[in-house]
Amino acid sequence: MTNRLQHIAIIMDGNGRWAAAKGLPRTAGHRQGAQTLQKISEAAADMGVKYLTVYAFSTENWQRPPEEVAYLMNLLRHYLKDEFKKIQEKGARIRFIGERYMLDEDIRALMSKIETDTAQNDKFTLCVALSYGSRGELTSTFKRLASQVESGALRIDDITEQTISANLYTADMPDPDIVIRTGGEQRVSNYLLWQLAYSELFFTPVYWPDFSAEDLSAVIKEYNSRERRYGKV
Ligand code: FPP
Repeated sequence: MTNRLQHIAIIMDGNGRWAAAKGLPRTAGHRQGAQTLQKISEAAADMGVKYLTVYAFSTENWQRPPEEVAYLMNLLRHYLKDEFKKIQEKGARIRFIGERYMLDEDIRALMSKIETDTAQNDKFTLCVALSYGSRGELTSTFKRLASQVESGALRIDDITEQTISANLYTADMPDPDIVIRTGGEQRVSNYLLWQLAYSELFFTPVYWPDFSAEDLSAVIKEYNSRERRYGKV
């Protein structure tokens, strides 16, 4: 395992509170949060980070008020159609993880198109977790492996940590070196539970819409000063 920073995962929390503090509707926080995502993606790419995975919408978020869900879905449409072009033109690969079947057909089509259009870009990957939940991801992975055992295609002894990793949505990405949660809460909220086994965790009180390239750079600096031992001495 290497100490070189490759992958940062972010829980973009605090949009609603950012808006409330300014006397604005929660949706204004999401709009600003989406702009912060663009800015931080560019900054991460410029800092040499290879993968950025962001939690844009959890499977639990479907239970938010329908107006807020509709706003987030329309924001997503807008980014898929227009706004992501900016980082796409800078050579970013864009991909998605999560329960796609729960998303509207037109959104799924836009997601597939952007994934195909950017598949050859290898400088930087922006991975957007949408309708994502880690326990759901693990459950479907275990079911898939169990059905392979049942059909005789896989032996129980061949189920290893590597086989499990290779059957997750994140199969072709390294595990996150860093997980950042903005907005002051200190929990992982069903995000990348398997993948973050050895990640360094960072919690900041800054609301996501205010999170800056300088904040990201401070996290990376602190990461570089931490020693990762992976359970060894
Ligand atoms: C958490 O803040 C944030 C979300 C549930 C949505 C995150 C979405 C974005 C940053 C926009 C992403 C946009 C695209 C186009 C991918 P919260 O609403 O839970 O804030 P609160 O905890 O202060 O209420």
